[in-house]
Amino acid sequence: MPHGFPLEQCRAVITGASSGLGAEFARQLAPGAEVLVLVARRAEALEKVKMELSGTRTKVLCCVSDLATEAGRSDVCAFLAANGVKPNLLINNAGMGDYGSFASSSAEKTRTQIELNITALTMLTHALLPLMETPGGILNVSSLASTLPMPDLAVYAASKAFVTSFSEALAIELAPKGITVSCVCPGPTPTNFSQTAKRSDGSDTNRDGQALLRIPPAQVVREALGALQAGRACVFPGVGVAIAGRVFRLMPRGIMRWVLRRRSTKE
Ligand SMILES: NC(=O)c1ccc[n+]([C@@H]2O[C@H](COP(=O)([O-])OP(=O)(O)OC[C@H]3O[C@@H](n4cnc5c(N)ncnc54)[C@H](OP(=O)(O)O)[C@@H]3O)[C@@H](O)[C@H]2O)c1
Repeated sequence: MPHGFPLEQCRAVITGASSGLGAEFARQLAPGAEVLVLVARRAEALEKVKMELSGTRTKVLCCVSDLATEAGRSDVCAFLAANGVKPNLLINNAGMGDYGSFASSSAEKTRTQIELNITALTMLTHALLPLMETPGGILNVSSLASTLPMPDLAVYAASKAFVTSFSEALAIELAPKGITVSCVCPGPTPTNFSQTAKRSDGSDTNRDGQALLRIPPAQVVREALGALQAGRACVFPGVGVAIAGRVFRLMPRGIMRWVLRRRSTKE
């Protein structure tokens, strides 16, 4: 069992920190952190999160960047260098979905989704690893969706399968180097996610049966940080999501496809 990452006095880069889970990571880390670098596209929303944290002694820096572009990812590295920040914790949280059939999806939104959910997470990890002081930590935000193929969220679920697999492999590779890697696989969580995933002519991702799995962002983040501290490679926050994750991972794929086909033809 690898050692966990001690959160006290961390110097953390949090992507997607302008809302939802990312902002909550900042709130929960702020009381004990040394530096927090908040990354997202919306400057005003980042400043609002920074204001919220002004009562703590933590130094909070806002880095406005579009992580779905290579230039935006380079800007993050330049920002860290310019501000003399040597991070020891990277929270790859920024992500988005696109709810609807793949055939009718916009090529642009699909490309952005892959750039953000996969390329940004991978390349930012690659760029920051050499800068990272040990003990170090990497916390990747995956999803319960990583455990199953999801019609109408096909690219999203596949991108999160990448995140979980990548994280579990890195956890093994980096443990001897003193870097703990964990991934968190939340179920449906009330944030802006559903609205962002909604198409202009479509419905949102809220569906029957989700109420049983839904837990507040604060609990998702608490369990995610707990897993990183304990050196656990993967956590499914909330009892319902933990059970669902276990069942989906063990279910034979043929049965899984049959259930998903029935569910999708019923709608
Ligand atoms: N909520 C759920 O039900 C749920 C379930 C499982 C997993 N997750 C995962 O949780 C993570 C956080 O999502 P959330 O639920 O907190 O949703 P959210 O409230 O929509 O937050 C998404 C964050 O990502 C940032 N972001 C989006 N595009 C970006 C870009 N191109 N460059 C930089 N930042 C960008 C957004 O900031 P800006 O708009 O300011 O750029 C925002 O801060 C995602 O990886 C998501 O897949 C969510």
